[in-house]
Amino acid sequence: MPRHLTFDLEKPWRWYLHAPEIISTPVGRANLAPSGYLWGVEVYEEWRGRGLGRELVRLMIAAAKQQGHCFVRLRVHATNDVALGLYIGLGFSPTGLEGTDSVGPWIELELEFESDE
Ligand SMILES: CC(C)(COP(=O)(O)OP(=O)(O)OC[C@H]1O[C@@H](n2cnc3c(N)ncnc32)[C@H](O)[C@@H]1OP(=O)(O)O)[C@@H](O)C(=O)NCCC(=O)NCCS
Repeated sequence: MPRHLTFDLEKPWRWYLHAPEIISTPVGRANLAPSGYLWGVEVYEEWRGRGLGRELVRLMIAAAKQQGHCFVRLRVHATNDVALGLYIGLGFSPTGLEGTDSVGPWIELELEFESDE
């Protein structure tokens, strides 16, 4: 069964990943800002390590294309090896922007593509 996203009517930037072959409730979520910034990418703990994070980010990229974006950018903490592996595996590359927040150092990654518009 195909995996799909739904968005929150009250918070239309927030998307939920559904994997109906596993469970009827969402298995993860992500937010897409009008600027094309992706944040809060998360697969709920019990569903990690099954390819759902990759699927979630792929679907968010498709959503960004549909919204007319030609890139997705995000920040990832430098120590988050799992997320870094996920994004680099999908073709994201560093923009050169980096900083530090309360968690630690982060880097900005970007994936460019052709928009659907
Ligand atoms: C990051 C996250 C979304 C990945 O979701 P997931 O469903 O577990 O990931 P997937 O099963 O789709 O795996 C995708 C890639 O992630 C990496 N990965 C996944 N599990 C991993 C692990 N245990 N160790 C190292 N890398 C791992 C690999 O690069 C993997 O690609 P591969 O299968 O080709 O090796 C999930 O771990 C999560 O929600 N983490 C907490 C929140 C977070 O850190 N979000 C990112 C904020 S920028």
